[in-house]
Amino acid sequence: MSDSNQAAVLFVCLGNICRSPTAHGIFEHKVAHSPLRGRVTVESAGTGDWHLGNPPDARAQQAARERGYALEHLRARQVNEDDFHRFDWILAMDHQNLSHLEALNPAHSRARLQLFLDLLEHPPKREVPDPYYGGGDGFADVLDLCEAASDALLQRLLVDAGAGRL
Ligand code: 4NP
Repeated sequence: MSDSNQAAVLFVCLGNICRSPTAHGIFEHKVAHSPLRGRVTVESAGTGDWHLGNPPDARAQQAARERGYALEHLRARQVNEDDFHRFDWILAMDHQNLSHLEALNPAHSRARLQLFLDLLEHPPKREVPDPYYGGGDGFADVLDLCEAASDALLQRLLVDAGAGRL
Protein backbone atom coordinates (compact mmCIF):
# COMPACT_ATOMS: atom_id res chain seq x y z
CA MET A 1 0.00 0.00 0.00
CA SER A 2 1.54 3.33 -0.98
CA ASP A 3 -0.58 5.68 1.17
CA SER A 4 1.75 6.90 3.92
CA ASN A 5 -1.05 6.87 6.49
CA GLN A 6 -1.54 3.16 5.99
CA ALA A 7 0.44 0.01 6.55
CA ALA A 8 0.07 -3.42 4.99
CA VAL A 9 1.17 -6.62 6.71
CA LEU A 10 1.42 -10.13 5.22
CA PHE A 11 1.96 -13.21 7.38
CA VAL A 12 3.50 -16.22 5.62
CA CYS A 13 3.82 -19.90 6.55
CA LEU A 14 3.96 -23.12 4.54
CA GLY A 15 0.33 -24.16 4.01
CA ASN A 16 -1.55 -20.97 5.01
CA ILE A 17 -3.98 -23.08 7.03
CA CYS A 18 -2.40 -23.13 10.53
CA ARG A 19 0.18 -20.56 11.59
CA SER A 20 -0.20 -17.59 9.22
CA PRO A 21 -4.03 -17.52 9.38
CA THR A 22 -3.74 -17.64 13.17
CA ALA A 23 -1.41 -14.62 13.09
CA HIS A 24 -3.72 -12.98 10.54
CA GLY A 25 -6.82 -13.39 12.74
CA ILE A 26 -5.05 -12.27 15.91
CA PHE A 27 -3.45 -9.20 14.35
CA GLU A 28 -6.65 -8.23 12.53
CA HIS A 29 -8.44 -8.38 15.89
CA LYS A 30 -5.80 -6.35 17.70
CA VAL A 31 -5.71 -3.66 15.00
CA ALA A 32 -9.52 -3.43 15.00
CA HIS A 33 -9.40 -2.70 18.75
CA SER A 34 -6.60 -0.12 18.48
CA PRO A 35 -6.21 3.48 17.29
CA LEU A 36 -4.96 2.04 13.99
CA ARG A 37 -8.36 0.58 13.13
CA GLY A 38 -8.94 1.02 9.38
CA ARG A 39 -5.32 1.93 8.70
CA VAL A 40 -3.72 -1.49 8.44
CA THR A 41 -4.30 -4.06 5.70
CA VAL A 42 -3.75 -7.59 7.00
CA GLU A 43 -3.43 -10.71 4.86
CA SER A 44 -1.76 -14.12 5.01
CA ALA A 45 -0.38 -16.55 2.44
CA GLY A 46 1.49 -19.83 2.13
CA THR A 47 4.67 -20.66 0.27
CA GLY A 48 3.06 -23.98 -0.76
CA ASP A 49 -0.01 -24.54 -2.91
CA TRP A 50 -1.60 -27.66 -1.37
CA HIS A 51 -4.49 -25.92 0.36
CA LEU A 52 -5.43 -23.09 -2.00
CA GLY A 53 -8.95 -21.80 -1.33
CA ASN A 54 -9.33 -23.81 1.87
CA PRO A 55 -10.36 -22.36 5.24
CA PRO A 56 -7.92 -22.68 8.14
CA ASP A 57 -7.40 -26.12 9.68
CA ALA A 58 -10.31 -26.99 12.01
CA ARG A 59 -7.88 -27.36 14.94
CA ALA A 60 -6.48 -23.86 14.34
CA GLN A 61 -10.00 -22.43 14.11
CA GLN A 62 -11.07 -24.14 17.34
CA ALA A 63 -7.98 -23.07 19.30
CA ALA A 64 -8.36 -19.47 18.07
CA ARG A 65 -12.10 -19.40 18.82
CA GLU A 66 -11.36 -20.38 22.43
CA ARG A 67 -9.38 -17.13 22.74
CA GLY A 68 -11.93 -14.99 20.93
CA TYR A 69 -10.37 -14.85 17.46
CA ALA A 70 -12.37 -15.63 14.31
CA LEU A 71 -10.55 -17.40 11.48
CA GLU A 72 -13.44 -18.90 9.50
CA HIS A 73 -13.57 -16.07 6.95
CA LEU A 74 -9.98 -16.72 5.82
CA ARG A 75 -9.04 -18.72 2.70
CA ALA A 76 -5.60 -20.05 1.80
CA ARG A 77 -3.64 -18.48 -1.03
CA GLN A 78 -0.07 -18.71 -2.25
CA VAL A 79 2.42 -15.88 -1.89
CA ASN A 80 3.37 -14.20 -5.18
CA GLU A 81 5.80 -11.60 -6.46
CA ASP A 82 3.20 -8.83 -6.40
CA ASP A 83 2.99 -9.22 -2.61
CA PHE A 84 6.47 -7.67 -2.36
CA HIS A 85 5.09 -4.50 -3.94
CA ARG A 86 1.82 -4.43 -1.98
CA PHE A 87 3.02 -5.10 1.57
CA ASP A 88 5.24 -3.05 3.89
CA TRP A 89 5.89 -6.02 6.17
CA ILE A 90 6.21 -9.67 5.14
CA LEU A 91 6.59 -11.80 8.24
CA ALA A 92 7.72 -15.41 7.94
CA MET A 93 6.89 -18.04 10.53
CA ASP A 94 10.11 -20.03 10.12
CA HIS A 95 13.47 -20.07 8.37
CA GLN A 96 12.21 -22.32 5.58
CA ASN A 97 9.47 -19.82 4.71
CA LEU A 98 11.97 -16.96 4.96
CA SER A 99 14.39 -18.68 2.55
CA HIS A 100 11.56 -19.27 0.08
CA LEU A 101 10.54 -15.61 0.30
CA GLU A 102 14.13 -14.39 -0.09
CA ALA A 103 14.39 -16.43 -3.30
CA LEU A 104 11.17 -14.85 -4.60
CA ASN A 105 12.06 -11.30 -3.50
CA PRO A 106 12.02 -9.09 -6.62
CA ALA A 107 14.07 -5.99 -7.29
CA HIS A 108 12.39 -2.82 -5.98
CA SER A 109 10.47 -4.71 -3.31
CA ARG A 110 8.82 -2.35 -0.80
CA ALA A 111 8.56 -5.05 1.83
CA ARG A 112 10.50 -5.44 5.03
CA LEU A 113 11.06 -9.21 5.10
CA GLN A 114 11.89 -10.95 8.38
CA LEU A 115 10.98 -13.67 10.86
CA PHE A 116 7.78 -12.77 12.73
CA LEU A 117 9.23 -13.64 16.17
CA ASP A 118 12.23 -11.38 15.60
CA LEU A 119 9.83 -8.52 16.41
CA LEU A 120 9.97 -9.65 20.05
CA GLU A 121 12.55 -7.95 22.23
CA HIS A 122 13.35 -11.27 23.94
CA PRO A 123 12.09 -14.01 21.60
CA PRO A 124 11.65 -17.37 23.39
CA LYS A 125 12.45 -18.92 20.00
CA ARG A 126 12.88 -17.60 16.47
CA GLU A 127 10.38 -19.85 14.70
CA VAL A 128 6.68 -20.50 15.18
CA PRO A 129 6.70 -24.33 15.17
CA ASP A 130 4.58 -26.06 12.53
CA PRO A 131 1.64 -27.66 14.42
CA TYR A 132 0.16 -29.51 11.42
CA TYR A 133 1.50 -33.01 12.12
CA GLY A 134 1.90 -32.58 15.85
CA GLY A 135 -0.66 -33.02 18.55
CA GLY A 136 -1.18 -31.73 22.03
CA ASP A 137 -0.42 -28.11 22.66
CA GLY A 138 0.91 -27.24 19.22
CA PHE A 139 -1.94 -24.91 18.36
CA ALA A 140 -1.94 -23.25 21.81
CA ASP A 141 1.81 -22.70 21.41
CA VAL A 142 1.18 -21.05 18.01
CA LEU A 143 -1.42 -18.79 19.61
CA ASP A 144 0.89 -17.79 22.49
CA LEU A 145 3.71 -16.88 20.13
CA CYS A 146 1.50 -15.08 17.61
CA GLU A 147 -0.26 -13.06 20.33
CA ALA A 148 3.06 -11.89 21.77
CA ALA A 149 4.58 -11.01 18.40
CA SER A 150 1.35 -9.31 17.28
CA ASP A 151 1.49 -7.09 20.37
CA ALA A 152 5.07 -6.18 19.48
CA LEU A 153 4.11 -5.43 15.87
CA LEU A 154 1.18 -3.28 16.93
CA GLN A 155 3.41 -1.28 19.29
CA ARG A 156 5.88 -0.80 16.46
CA LEU A 157 3.17 0.46 14.10
CA LEU A 158 1.76 2.76 16.78
CA VAL A 159 5.22 4.29 17.27
CA ASP A 160 5.62 4.65 13.50
CA ALA A 161 2.17 6.23 13.23
CA GLY A 162 2.95 8.65 16.06
CA ALA A 163 6.11 9.69 14.24
CA GLY A 164 4.28 10.08 10.93
CA ARG A 165 6.19 7.13 9.50
CA LEU A 166 3.38 4.66 8.94
P1 4NP B 1 1.04 -24.11 8.20
O1 4NP B 1 0.97 -25.69 8.50
O2 4NP B 1 2.27 -23.91 7.35
O3 4NP B 1 1.19 -23.50 9.55
O4 4NP B 1 -0.25 -23.76 7.49
C1 4NP B 1 0.99 -26.66 7.49
C2 4NP B 1 -0.18 -27.01 6.85
C3 4NP B 1 -0.17 -27.97 5.87
C4 4NP B 1 1.01 -28.58 5.54
C5 4NP B 1 2.19 -28.23 6.17
C6 4NP B 1 2.18 -27.25 7.15
N1 4NP B 1 1.04 -29.60 4.54
O5 4NP B 1 2.11 -30.19 4.33
O6 4NP B 1 0.01 -29.87 3.91
